[in-house]
Amino acid sequence: MRKKIVAGNWKMNMDYTSGLSLFSEVLNMVKDEVTGTQEVVVCAPFIHLQSLSQLAAQQSRVTIGAQNCHQAESGAYTGEISAAMLRSVGVSYVILGHSERRQYFGETDALLAEKVNVALKNNLKPIFCIGETLDERNSGKYFDVIKRQLGDGIFHLSDADFSKLVIAYEPVWAIGTGLTATPEQAQEVHAFIRKELAAKYGEAIANDTTILYGGSCNPKNAADLFSQADIDGGLIGGASLKSRDFTDIIKAFN
Ligand code: PGA
Repeated sequence: MRKKIVAGNWKMNMDYTSGLSLFSEVLNMVKDEVTGTQEVVVCAPFIHLQSLSQLAAQQSRVTIGAQNCHQAESGAYTGEISAAMLRSVGVSYVILGHSERRQYFGETDALLAEKVNVALKNNLKPIFCIGETLDERNSGKYFDVIKRQLGDGIFHLSDADFSKLVIAYEPVWAIGTGLTATPEQAQEVHAFIRKELAAKYGEAIANDTTILYGGSCNPKNAADLFSQADIDGGLIGGASLKSRDFTDIIKAFN
């Protein structure tokens, strides 16, 4: 059975104090109100990770993720952070290939393949993001884009490594825009992704892989999206910055 996950992506938001209070609220709400969800992940800026990991240690359903790591193990890379450093403060997941990293920081499929390798080597589970731009959708090329991102970013992995990875389908045109993919549009791509995984890794691994939807997911649309056969949860940006909205999305899942 594949794992169901709701992951928050705080992006570059929340100073230290605000982050701690938001996370404490989420922890309390999850404890008091949420039953059944398999895993809640909070992907926060680096300054928060150690404190959040310590707080999360009391709540087994909540784990912590980072939003990026460098592709090298260590070395002279001023301003960067390594997978081993993240692991050393209790981080379990790392978002890799987010469209904002691809778009604003020039991250290519080849670079992301290296980042995925270093993350897995250090026992961090990648949440690997893929998705097409509006032009790519309108020109009907979105399946080709998804296929390329999968092939060049993660299909070099062994079966054992691939099984540790989570995939997030995030249509770029839906991120932070308030334009959500319809449940049917999202399901169509999720089913395509699972078909590609089955062709490469076999049915068993494909069926066990968690595929999240991301892009303007909110408490109103979450239940419809999450009820689709191949949607195993969400990667939530804006709505993860409000404890009530984030908790309501987690509840929509049950
Ligand atoms: P959004 O962001 O929910 O604010 O659209 C999703 C994401 O970028 O992961």
